[in-house]
Amino acid sequence: MSKNILVSVAWPYASGSRHLGHIGGAYLPADIFARYHRIIGNKVIMVSGSDAHGTPITVRADAEGVKPIDIVNKYHAEFLRYWEKLNISWDNYTTTMTETHIEVVHDIFNTLLEKGYIEKQKSIQAYDPSENRFLPDRYVEGICPYCEYKEARGDQCDNCSKTLDPEELINPVSKISGNKAEFKETEHFFLKLSSLQKELGDYLDSREGWRPHVINWAKSFVNEGLIDRAITRDLDWGITIPVDELGPGKKIYVWFEAVIGYLSASKEWSKLNDNEDSWKDWWLNKDAESYYFVGKDNIPFHAVIWPCILLGYGALNLPTNVPANQYILIKGEKASSSRGVGKTLEEYLDEWNPDALRYALASSLPEQSDTEISEDEMIRRNNEELVATWGNLVQRVSTLINKNIDDLQSLSEATSEDQELISQFEKAYESVGKLIEKVELKSALQESMRFVSTVNAYLNNTEPWKVLKSDKERASRILYSALTAIDSCANLLYPFMPTTSLKVRNSIPRDSNFEWSVNKIKTGVKLEEIGLLFKKFD
Ligand code: MF3
Ligand code: ZN
Repeated sequence: MSKNILVSVAWPYASGSRHLGHIGGAYLPADIFARYHRIIGNKVIMVSGSDAHGTPITVRADAEGVKPIDIVNKYHAEFLRYWEKLNISWDNYTTTMTETHIEVVHDIFNTLLEKGYIEKQKSIQAYDPSENRFLPDRYVEGICPYCEYKEARGDQCDNCSKTLDPEELINPVSKISGNKAEFKETEHFFLKLSSLQKELGDYLDSREGWRPHVINWAKSFVNEGLIDRAITRDLDWGITIPVDELGPGKKIYVWFEAVIGYLSASKEWSKLNDNEDSWKDWWLNKDAESYYFVGKDNIPFHAVIWPCILLGYGALNLPTNVPANQYILIKGEKASSSRGVGKTLEEYLDEWNPDALRYALASSLPEQSDTEISEDEMIRRNNEELVATWGNLVQRVSTLINKNIDDLQSLSEATSEDQELISQFEKAYESVGKLIEKVELKSALQESMRFVSTVNAYLNNTEPWKVLKSDKERASRILYSALTAIDSCANLLYPFMPTTSLKVRNSIPRDSNFEWSVNKIKTGVKLEEIGLLFKKFD
């Protein structure tokens, strides 16, 4: 039975280039997961878009002396290039500036307001007296009260991931003037997280199969007691508040609206596909599942705030799972293009075959803990695992067949060795599939590569290049078995390396339509030339 699967991926701020950490953190795992579910026959929509609002954008625009929209346009275009090069298979990649998004945000805001989950409250807010303006949270920096990290921001500490209020910072300073920030009273709308505490706790208790670091973090956050949070900010750049009660210069807080993007991007997808109501199959149908691929700094917003918004609004599906990744480390530091750790993504995309890059990253996904990755290790994987093991296997078998065999024989007289090989692959689909469904993608890839080695071992045992000289028919059967297994390897590897896997699959004539199972190869025909799949780095 086919399932509806929503693959939601963190909306990247259109405020700067992405780096390998972002790709391995969210986009690549989401794409692997989505591709797998599509090939096993599930109905997938994978959505995200550029996060156009918030202080990351305005800080950047101020620094460059341009308008926020110029920054957004520049990076949105850059992101689209990444997705194309990396083959990220979006169903809808949009932005938070679309009319649909604004409508959906206003609808949710108004509904929560009506239901009493949004409320006006007076609050104390950071103020820069020398600039005579209130400061958005990101414009305040200071020492984290929890972990004493020195560069914590007013919204969040990047070191311990705690969401913060600027007032909690020790020695808060304004990022605009560098002066000490003061705190003054102002009015804002608040999301009443406190009144959703019980429901959120029940929801989290009902989750199964979540990564320990995600569920533990979320539960302890809730157990500390949910505090109402301001969802409007003193900014000009952002989505307007649908009720005109706070006066000018205030907008909806970026985090409140960006998470709503998952819903608005799904609705926009429906419209683009001329079926306005189809989004409901993913959001209202109780059998639908939703997976949110985000980095660990996004856990609070996806495992707590977004579920609270959904609970308050009612009727819509809550996240099935939030398989957040930890950080990719380069030389012991969190990957970062702004701080110059690691090459830029553009550089990697220029130098690497996209599939090889996907492979190297997928082999080191930081699923359970921060994971160091080095270029040496990436190159080693490319050379040893892709070029020497997988690429070479494909090359060897297809050359042997094309040079020596006119009429590939079927398995009718398979030996127990042949049968053993094929039956291993029948099991491979199940074990790899299960791992991907549990979002254990690194293990799924390892497992797939283990099957590649199985084929190499089979060839070393059966030595078809020798058998060819004495018994061509037997050699033909060996090569048929190996080719059947290679076809399956390409299937198993397809979610990870779509382009090269399709190349392999398409070169092999098959008897039936492709399925996520051992497929029957046509006999009596030639293979198409594949050429080199991967290139060796020096
Ligand atoms: N723009 C945020 C970031 O880059 C992520 C937003 S995810 C969303 O960290 F769901 F809120 F959109
Ligand atoms: Zn901290």
